[in-house]
Amino acid sequence: MDRNLALEFVRVTEAAALSCSKYMGRGDNTAADQAAVDTMRKSFDGVAVRGTVVIGEGERDEAPMLYIGEKVGAGGPSDPEVDIALDPLEGTSLCSKGAPGALAVVAVAEKGGFLHAPDTYMEKIAVGPKAFGAIDMNLSVKENIHRVSEALGKKVQDMTISILDRERHQDLILQVRELGCRICLIDDGDISVALAAAWDDTGMDLLLGTGGAPEGVITAAALKCLGGDFQGRLRFRSEEEKSRAQKMGVMDENRIYLRDELAAGPVMFVATGVTAGPLLKGVRFLSGGQALTESIVMRSSTGTIRRIEAQHDLNKKPQKWGLDFR
Ligand code: FBP
Repeated sequence: MDRNLALEFVRVTEAAALSCSKYMGRGDNTAADQAAVDTMRKSFDGVAVRGTVVIGEGERDEAPMLYIGEKVGAGGPSDPEVDIALDPLEGTSLCSKGAPGALAVVAVAEKGGFLHAPDTYMEKIAVGPKAFGAIDMNLSVKENIHRVSEALGKKVQDMTISILDRERHQDLILQVRELGCRICLIDDGDISVALAAAWDDTGMDLLLGTGGAPEGVITAAALKCLGGDFQGRLRFRSEEEKSRAQKMGVMDENRIYLRDELAAGPVMFVATGVTAGPLLKGVRFLSGGQALTESIVMRSSTGTIRRIEAQHDLNKKPQKWGLDFR
């Protein structure tokens, strides 16, 4: 994949983030999500790829835009064919509450690179590069924590584990507490805390627990760029989800997917902060119709991690950013 493409995709996540950030703290999940989706969809028209959304806003019958299978991009026959996994607003309720960690995200692989995951749950374990190879979903929580602690050279009691604050995680939380680890219980947004484990200074070491499967595939792509590790196992909530998954090619429902089985071949990951979080600053509106964004752009083939601070003049092309409220 052409490296210049990564910089094209950052325009897409910047635009989505700018657009939905207008709804920060306004308590309207639907409006925030819609703004991100609409703007991201329009922005793809400026990217020279022949893209297919493989992880998106849902099945065609339930999502009018950015649905699974939708073709995006303005590419012609000579432009690359890519698979796209996206989440225009990861952490919708975080944005509508003004809480930390909401992101606009796009991951890109060569055709066929991403697991075609249905919109179900995934049990996940994610770590940064120092603990690559130390995780194994066949082992217990305790064994995984001890292995990661050893790989990080950190006492178990000094480790911080991120877990979504959900009823289903009561037992997991008890197990982690018994080991004496610190826990960061998050309301939403497990992509951001999973990736935070790749940086020492965030203090995050490991993500455990069950969250969205689409977010799992996106996290695997990002951790591949960062040299971190990820494993996931689909967790279905109904027979209907299971049969949907079978139609998408998932034959073994208990299979543990390794990072590179979820995101195969060269991948790219691009995200822009919507609200400030452990990974990125959020959108900040300045005087005179200016706004600042911070994005991260990464490619697995080179391992380059770019942070891009952009200042946008919202007086120019306001529609492009979904900010034209006239
Ligand atoms: P959205 O992008 O739909 O807002 O998802 C937010 C999120 O918290 C994900 O980060 C996480 O993987 C998933 O939802 C958890 O699902 P649930 O809220 O059903 O436990």
